[in-house]
Amino acid sequence: MSAEIIDGRKVAALLRERVQEDVQEWCTKGNRRPFLQVILVGDDPASIVYTGTKTKACMEVGIETDTMVLQDTISEFELKEIIQSCNANDEIDGILVQMPLPSHLSQHSVIEAIDHRKDVDGFHPMNVGRLSLNQPCFKSCTPAGIMELLKHYSIPVKSQHAVVVGASNIVGSPMAVMLSRENSSGKATTTICHKYTRDLTAHTIHADILIVAAGQPHLIKAEMVKQGVVVIDVGINRVADETNEKGYRLVGDVDYDSVKKKASWITPVPGGVGPMTVAMLMKNTLLAAKKSLYPN
Ligand code: GUN
Repeated sequence: MSAEIIDGRKVAALLRERVQEDVQEWCTKGNRRPFLQVILVGDDPASIVYTGTKTKACMEVGIETDTMVLQDTISEFELKEIIQSCNANDEIDGILVQMPLPSHLSQHSVIEAIDHRKDVDGFHPMNVGRLSLNQPCFKSCTPAGIMELLKHYSIPVKSQHAVVVGASNIVGSPMAVMLSRENSSGKATTTICHKYTRDLTAHTIHADILIVAAGQPHLIKAEMVKQGVVVIDVGINRVADETNEKGYRLVGDVDYDSVKKKASWITPVPGGVGPMTVAMLMKNTLLAAKKSLYPN
């Protein structure tokens, strides 16, 4: 047996198409185009690639965007002043500060400076708190994209045992909240594992749905999962590969070739979760422009 593939590229393309139509309708009614302000601090190569992907998606769906590139020597004070001017600018609907930030800047403090009504990443404590309370909010794009994938493929969540490996603020933590909330997409029994978990296999082996966002190449092997598990691999790791012209290839946190033989569904890397993150960002930016979540 081999798992069915969860095609994130296909589902993300459908989602972007829907956003594009909604943007068009919004503009036809006389509204200006939604605008996403991206702020990139420093020249981290991965962040440059990610922000480029976001810009391309904006262009595709008809969202206007600008990327402000700031030197990695910028002070926290100066960065917050820039964020405050974006908060006050009525022409800007969504603000995204690409993470990670240089180590002299406090991620928490910078995120808190963003107006939560423009926080299309869903990282602000107001949005994280409202997510926990099952209130309307901007939802972190990667876990929200995973919920969309489960929905698209009609994969049941209610009463399933979901195991999340990784407890980051961006993915693992909000993922566990979304899966366990008592709403129409949640109601799973949820376990969160992380780097301090003793005997990871003791938990992963019981998962009906296994979400892995640990940042460790091939952490999850076939013997750690049960037959029929649904596997969502959030990892994007570069591993050296001399046969590849770039000198590396991308692998997930799951040993795909062995685990797919036991799983019922699995996401590939690349082409699984990644494209969904960007599509959800487009959706959030449109919601911000329409003031759908925070009308006042
Ligand atoms: N760095 C890695 N993922 C993300 C994301 O979803 N948003 C931002 N702003 N930075 C990131």
